[in-house]
Amino acid sequence: MTKLKTALLTTTLVASSVMASNAVLAHKTDRDVTKLAPTSKAWSYVKATTIYLYPQTTIRFNDKRANELNENPHAKEARVKAIYNGRSIAFLLEWPDGTKSIQKGCKSDVYGDGFAVQLPVNYKDASKLPYIGMGSDGRPVVIHLQKAAQPIYEPNGNGDVGMQQGTLNKNKFDKEVEKFDKEVSILAVTDYQRSFISEGFRSMTEIKDGSEKFSADMAYGNNGWKGKVARPLKDDYLKLNGAFPVAFATWDGERLQRDGLKYLSNWIPVKLIGQNGGGKLVEDLTKPVKGDVENGKNLVQQNGCTGCHYIPGLSQPSAMAPGLANIGGYSTAAYLKESIVEPNAVVVPGYNRNAHPNTPWYNVVDGKRVSTMPPYPLDDKSLNDMVAYLKTLKAEVK
Ligand code: HEC
Repeated sequence: MTKLKTALLTTTLVASSVMASNAVLAHKTDRDVTKLAPTSKAWSYVKATTIYLYPQTTIRFNDKRANELNENPHAKEARVKAIYNGRSIAFLLEWPDGTKSIQKGCKSDVYGDGFAVQLPVNYKDASKLPYIGMGSDGRPVVIHLQKAAQPIYEPNGNGDVGMQQGTLNKNKFDKEVEKFDKEVSILAVTDYQRSFISEGFRSMTEIKDGSEKFSADMAYGNNGWKGKVARPLKDDYLKLNGAFPVAFATWDGERLQRDGLKYLSNWIPVKLIGQNGGGKLVEDLTKPVKGDVENGKNLVQQNGCTGCHYIPGLSQPSAMAPGLANIGGYSTAAYLKESIVEPNAVVVPGYNRNAHPNTPWYNVVDGKRVSTMPPYPLDDKSLNDMVAYLKTLKAEVK
């Protein structure tokens, strides 16, 4: 009996310590988590998990200045907390950013800081997760996005810019102006805060019917942002239980980041404390990759991968294929393996095909995207070695 008890105790200890170091543990509470602000004191009782955000270097932009500002960027260390009740879950992401950049409605060349929380619709099989960027064909994700933007002042509070009114086009003076400003500020809408369902670049569909109830907020202080997103555990799009993956993205407005120019985490497992299941998913997403890195590097060169792909030290940046400088930071081992053996499983959307007609990343055949990368049906050992090498491709953390 005692033996059994000790054995059980040891297993739970081992299991929990493994989980604690690898998964985001969502604490359970009775309170309404949708009401939490990024700066709420309640967060101080929730354990943080350290994650890393890697510069997404898939494509180079058609913007010289943005490219210069994002030359060889470091990765960022960030912290995630999660808390849930019977109905909803809230995430807090804390990430460093030396400058507070706010998007202004009237300027198209000023970009705001921002963040996004991404959740796969189907997540039971960790080896078939969607493309980390923004979902892929047949593998949709829900994205909650919040950008730091100047509130839009308008009398109806709907966020429709067409109805926007400022004091300048009102014939008002002094006290009247003050009164007007005060009234409309109560109705101010903080753009930009939206939810999307996405199966890849250019397929982002905004969920506008109100069925995706979420709240988001961000607060700046101490050289960094705190961003909060709260959403239902279950709705028309997602059923979150046991354990599930989440990914985070942040944009640095100062560096002219927008769209695919951002910082991106890998898929990170979240475990709902007090709920069963999902252990396999957590294990699959966190188990270390074993393989001969040196041999993997040789194989990557021998197989001509660098003829198309940019790998720092091995090849030059090009438009031929996605840059792999940070692929090890934001991709799972399973995704890398799948990319090599079966390029058509997930086709990275990449450039506008019309802009780069000589080097398309895919062709459309019978309405389906077909990758221009040839499949490499290698043996398991070679694949593991190659994946182990690709996992080392990532920027240093600063
Ligand atoms: C003929 C050019 C070409 C060669 C050679 C090539 N690739 Fe690719 N690769 C591409 C293109 C184009 C894409 C984007 C379309 C897609 O997803 O298949 C891609 C996608 C990828 C991705 C996914 C990138 C991402 O951002 O998600 C990985 C990983 C990858 N390739 C690894 C390799 C490895 C490893 C080799 C060598 C064994 C290789 N590639 C050889 C053209 C190539």
